[in-house]
Amino acid sequence: MHIRKLRLFDFKNYHEVNVVFSPYINCITGLNGSGKTNLIDAIHYLALTKSAFNTIEKENIRHGSQAFLIQSEWEIGGSAHQVVCSYQAGLPKTIRYDGKDYEKISEHIGRLPLVLVTPYDTDLIRGGSDGRRRFFDGILCQANESYLRDLIRYNHILRQRNALLKQSGGYAPDADLLKSYTDPLILLGRSIYEERRDFLESFLTEFRNYYELISENSEQVDIRYKSDGAEDLQSLFEQSLRKDIALERTTTGIHRDDFRFVMDGHAIRKYGSQGQQKSFVLALKLAQFAYLSEARETPPIILLDDIFDKLDRQRILQLMHILQGKGMGQVFITDAREERTRELLAETEFPLTFYKVENESIHEIK
Ligand SMILES: Nc1ncnc2c1ncn2[C@@H]1O[C@H](COP(=O)(O)OP(=O)(O)OP(=O)(O)O)[C@@H](O)[C@H]1O
Ligand SMILES: [Mg+2]
Repeated sequence: MHIRKLRLFDFKNYHEVNVVFSPYINCITGLNGSGKTNLIDAIHYLALTKSAFNTIEKENIRHGSQAFLIQSEWEIGGSAHQVVCSYQAGLPKTIRYDGKDYEKISEHIGRLPLVLVTPYDTDLIRGGSDGRRRFFDGILCQANESYLRDLIRYNHILRQRNALLKQSGGYAPDADLLKSYTDPLILLGRSIYEERRDFLESFLTEFRNYYELISENSEQVDIRYKSDGAEDLQSLFEQSLRKDIALERTTTGIHRDDFRFVMDGHAIRKYGSQGQQKSFVLALKLAQFAYLSEARETPPIILLDDIFDKLDRQRILQLMHILQGKGMGQVFITDAREERTRELLAETEFPLTFYKVENESIHEIK
């Protein structure tokens, strides 16, 4: 699976561009602020139906315009397919696959698996539990449609339950109505918990292998899953009813899950060096790549945004080496410094194609 052609209209800084990609390694160069990240964000959009960097849809429309359009042609399993994404301010966005609208946009997710690596990845370690939940949910949702459906449903009912608690203003809401939200949260919560738990078990093995390959030292790394789902959710919900009413929100459930990142028994956030933290997140991304490759039976697209600036030479070479060994598919690399990219990838066995972004357009360079 790979993207062959991309055409943008009024997406971010691009008025109109047309580009043909290589199925192998695409190196996007150009000055800071020229639009390299915006270009690969369009690919992220096509795969995951949203921007990786800006979730406010309107801000992805070119200044002064009212709508954007992303058109693309993909090769999937030997045949050509069209994926088109459009958004007009004030209207719902649409994703079309071979000319057909999806009933629900979420049905598209997983069809074009993708892994994004950015310099912000260490926020996964330093930030709150929601970032880590989003990361693991992102993998599970791309790998497993029923998980995605359960999660969407869970979040929908959770919002309804919270709205009811809020409306009740600190008093007990109608018991039957509350129960009609609580029961499915327990049921769905249980199955989401089991999916996350089972997923982590196989993910951890891959993750530990990659960490060992990337890091020079021999720290023991671990990811510990903490979830209310590990206990009896029914009685947890009963016990927290008073608290829920007083705080006007749902204080129990798998929406509070955390994944703790641990190195030699301690929180890597507090005790890990910068290098160890970089290795940790890179190993997370490589394990994501391996997991999705297997689940979707095709190597995911890899977007490496601006990582050459932040990673040392050794880690970059190791990363490329591992990806090649894993049967990588199509790759996109952005870097303001063309010469550095050429030098770092000189030993790569896969064909390299270079592009330059300037004046809101993009062209191939030799
Ligand atoms: N909605 C928009 N309309 C017009 N221009 C936009 C919009 N959103 C972002 N931009 C412009 O896009 C440019 C940034 O593009 P991008 O982040 O892709 O640059 P880059 O080439 O990746 O730069 P760097 O090398 O610094 O990472 C900025 O000049 C910004 O003003
Ligand atoms: Mg950039």
